[in-house]
Order: sequence, then C-alpha cells, then structure tokens
Amino acid sequence: MSQCVSLLTILLFIFCLSYSDAQMVPAVFVFGDSLVDVGNNNHLELSLAKADFPHNGLDFPRKKATGRFSNGKNAADFIAEKLGLPTSPPYLSLRSLSNNSNNAFTMGVSFASGGAGILNETNKLFRLYDLGARKFFVVGTGAIGCCPTQRNQNKTGECNHETNYWSSKYNEAVISLLKEIKAEIKEINYSFFDTYSVFLNFIEKPSLYGFTEVKAACCGLGNLNAQVPCLPISTYCTNRTDHVFWDLYHPTEATSRIIVDTIFSGSQQYAYPISVKQLISM
Ligand SMILES: *[C@@H]1O[C@H](CO)[C@@H](O)[C@H](O)[C@H]1NC(C)=O
Ligand SMILES: *[C@@H]1O[C@H](CO)[C@@H](O)[C@H](O)[C@H]1NC(C)=O
Ligand SMILES: *[C@@H]1O[C@H](CO)[C@@H](O)[C@H](O)[C@H]1NC(C)=O
Ligand SMILES: *[C@@H]1O[C@H](CO)[C@@H](O)[C@H](O)[C@H]1NC(C)=O
Ligand SMILES: *[C@@H]1O[C@H](CO)[C@@H](O)[C@H](O)[C@H]1NC(C)=O
Repeated sequence: MSQCVSLLTILLFIFCLSYSDAQMVPAVFVFGDSLVDVGNNNHLELSLAKADFPHNGLDFPRKKATGRFSNGKNAADFIAEKLGLPTSPPYLSLRSLSNNSNNAFTMGVSFASGGAGILNETNKLFRLYDLGARKFFVVGTGAIGCCPTQRNQNKTGECNHETNYWSSKYNEAVISLLKEIKAEIKEINYSFFDTYSVFLNFIEKPSLYGFTEVKAACCGLGNLNAQVPCLPISTYCTNRTDHVFWDLYHPTEATSRIIVDTIFSGSQQYAYPISVKQLISM
C-alpha cells in the first residue's frame, strides 16, 4: 500500500522569479514523484523506480521510453504546454552540463523523481521563497485506493476504501498546511487542485471522458494487468485513450491530459482558494 501511496503523490509548484507581460510564468519548478518525473530517475544508477524501457513511451513522439511512467506525455508536459514553455528538464540531466548550467536553472527545473515521498523536512517552502518564489500550485493526491494494484487486492476488484480515506486525509492536511503558510508569509499566493474529486469522476462517469476501462491497467499481466508491472514481457491494450490507467500505478497520457485540461479550464470547482488561471494572471 505504501508504495502505491508514495508513487501517486504529486506536488507541483509553479513559481515566478520575475514578471513580464509576454510571459506570465517565466519558469516552472516541478517537485513530485513518478506522476511528473520526466527522466530524473534515468540518472539514478541504483534505483528500481525506472521507466526507461518498453512499453513506456509507446505513444511519445519518438515512440521510445523517456523515463516517464506513461505511454506518452505526463502532467508536467501538459502543464508546460499550457504555459507556452518547454517541459522543465530533469535536474539530474543539468548536473552533467557545463558550469554555465546555472542559466538553465532560471528557465525551470524538474526535481520530480519516481518513488519520491513527503518528509517534514521537504515541506519547508521557505527553501523556495528566499529564492523569489511567490506562486505555488499544489496538486493533491487522487483516489489512490482505486489504482489497479489496490483493486487487485480485492476479490471483486473494488477500490480500497481505507487507502482512499488516507488519501483524502492527506489532502485535508495539505490544505491546512497551505493556510498556515499563507498566514505566515502573506506575499505568497497558491492554488490547490483537488485531483481526488476529478479522479472519482473518471471512475463514476467514465463515458463523459471517453473511458471504457477504469479498473484494469493498459500495460501489465494477470488480474487487472496489475499482477506484473509494465515490463517488456507484458502485454498492452490497443487503445490507450479509453483506459484511465497505463500501468498498475500510473495514469495514461489521456488521463494526464484531461486532468491538466481541467486544471486550466478556469473552473473554480476543484481549485482552492483560487484557480491556476487566477494564480497565473496575478
Ligand atoms: C563545476 O564547478 C565546480 C566548482 O568550481 C568544479 O568542481 C566542477 O568540476 C565543475 N564541473 C564541470 C562539469 O565543469
Ligand atoms: C512531522 O511533523 C508533524 C507536525 O509537526 C509531527 O506531528 C510528526 O511527528 C513529524 N513526523 C516526523 C517523522 O518527524
Ligand atoms: C472488497 O471491497 C469491498 C468494498 O469495499 C469490501 O467490502 C470487501 O471487504 C473487500 N474485500 C476484500 C477481500 O478486501
Ligand atoms: C494574493 O496575496 C495577496 C497578499 O496576501 C492578497 O492581497 C491577494 O488578495 C491574493 N490574491 C488572491 C487572488 O487571492
Ligand atoms: C479508442 O478509444 C476512444 C475513447 O473511448 C475512442 O474515441 C476511439 O474511437 C477508440 N479508437 C479505436 C481505434 O477503437
């Protein structure tokens, strides 16, 4: 259970170092786990949390595995697209550049790493505020109890209610932490996105989103394709746009795209206390 929880935790912060009218968001700095990892773990020799082999990347422009835990792009790519920016490169890919790569840092960097979790020490936003960060976009966890690896543990393939309960508790705790931080540092603004409710919509009303399979993973083997991860020996579904889940933990490109479209739709429904559009336009 803890593996699924940590793999599905996303925290994403967008922050602005400076403004210009042309570019409301000059740089994106991404913090999170495999949901938004764009290749950091490729550089971790000893990590088992990797996606640098088939069938990952099957629908990526070059049809090759990139380190993203997806058939194609992930939420980090779609958020960058919406902002008119390139996807922020993996931190570990910049380390090997020349020392002029300090410049690269001002263009945005991704620290997202598959398998990452939350430690008290990493919650110190002051680590970012001192460097000029003023806008924070924080994405909550989804209905983790409904991911294929969790359903696989239930004879009738139901969601694990206890896991979902802890996911919603986590989201409540993040919201109150953000309120506390705002009370302390008034100059920041933030938007929290309720991924949990959006995910439940996919599961409860799949046809509204073009999904026909909300339980089984696309790529894997065994019950719900969740008994064996997405490995080169695994099979994968022919239609990746009608599946919510790519593998036993991760969403398909189609799911990430819909989530990011919802984030940027301007609707207040899933955003507290303001939407990402309002955050950007301030
Ligand atoms: C970058 O600078 C540090 C400190 O000056 C030096 O130790 C390191 O070798 C340099 N790295 C490269 C790739 O030039
Ligand atoms: C993290 O911080 C919370 C709130 O201050 C505290 O209750 C908890 O014990 C801390 N956990 C660890 C592992 O230090
Ligand atoms: C399967 O899920 C249902 C619905 O949540 C629950 O009542 C049942 O106890 C679960 N069974 C197992 C074996 O976990
Ligand atoms: C952003 O933060 C400032 C300073 O606390 C506040 O005055 C302003 O109302 C906030 N903006 C929004 C849209 O909440
Ligand atoms: C794949 O699924 C999508 C969404 O349900 C559907 O619109 C499309 O027609 C399907 N494609 C094929 C080739 O069946």
